[in-house]
Amino acid sequence: PVPVFRRWLGSASPTSPAFAFDIDGVLLKGKRVIPQAKQALMRLTESSPPIPYILLTNGGGITEQRKAEQLSGLLDIEILPSQVIQGHSPMQSLVSQYGNKGVLVVGGDGRETQNVAKTYGFHRTLIPEDLHRWEPSIWPFKRTPTAAEDERVSYNLSDFDPARDAVASIMVFHDSRDWGTDIQVCLDVLTAKGGRVVGDRWESGLTQQVPIYFAAHDLVWSNEFPSPRLGQGGFKVALETLYSSLTGSELKCTVYGKPNRVTYEFAEKVLHAEARRLGLPDQPLHVHAVGDNPNSDIAGAKAFGWESYLVRTGIFKGPPGENDPNHPADHVVEHVDEAVLQVLSRPK
Ligand code: G3P
Ligand code: MG
Repeated sequence: PVPVFRRWLGSASPTSPAFAFDIDGVLLKGKRVIPQAKQALMRLTESSPPIPYILLTNGGGITEQRKAEQLSGLLDIEILPSQVIQGHSPMQSLVSQYGNKGVLVVGGDGRETQNVAKTYGFHRTLIPEDLHRWEPSIWPFKRTPTAAEDERVSYNLSDFDPARDAVASIMVFHDSRDWGTDIQVCLDVLTAKGGRVVGDRWESGLTQQVPIYFAAHDLVWSNEFPSPRLGQGGFKVALETLYSSLTGSELKCTVYGKPNRVTYEFAEKVLHAEARRLGLPDQPLHVHAVGDNPNSDIAGAKAFGWESYLVRTGIFKGPPGENDPNHPADHVVEHVDEAVLQVLSRPK
């Protein structure tokens, strides 16, 4: 009922158009730019008045500042950090709960991801490599780092000493680069009494001791490879399956990112701020969401009442003229620029 109401309301009162673009499969394929991407964004910037847009990705592992710099370089167009929403961006709201508690940050390039958490205000974090360095037998199949690498993974025990301090939560910020270590360490922490990883945890009656948060749960995503790649959701399924095999109970997870409502609420606030930055009148936005993943981009947009466009440059590869059977988009388009042109050509 919500989307219908929102759309009906939208048509009855004046609205301004706005866009939320997915990144992987819509603007980029790995490090390669999708040919129509730059043109599509330029049209919005050059439109009079300009049309606000955000880049709404389930990816992450770097700061919004760095992501904006990377995208600006690749697309040759200025993207501001305030226009970038990654899977973990709305997790900043967890700082009030965990800012000064031990947080195990998982995924991406360890220290870089930890730095993202730090910029959000999580001050007592550790990464799975820290626990491996502290006690290599925690996952004996991981190669011991060389001296050069050791420097990179070194950490200060006074910040977080596993023998002394408790992990209060696990936050998976991005795709795991080392599923073996990460799954083992997450299982250890999840079942650690009071979040203390020291001691024998494999006793009967294991229960979840620590909450776990995921920045996204895309089973697959789209890069240069011809078929979709396993994403953070793949890691989540593997962890959940192992957790339930070991404990006999279901792992309770909180998930951010598309298609979850919390991310759309965050995104709509960011879009309104972007509209204000562009000097647009303060009125409701009619948001057009362009994505390649029916399960996240289209399902999420539809549930939130945004108009949805499914491109054929990423995960979705249905035959021409067909829509996704489970989460049909409002429009199926060849590429991102077709979506933008459709909106711009509508009578104002
Ligand atoms: O790791 C990135 C992937 O999960 C999805 O990215 O931009 O398609 O939401 P995106
Ligand atoms: Mg995508």
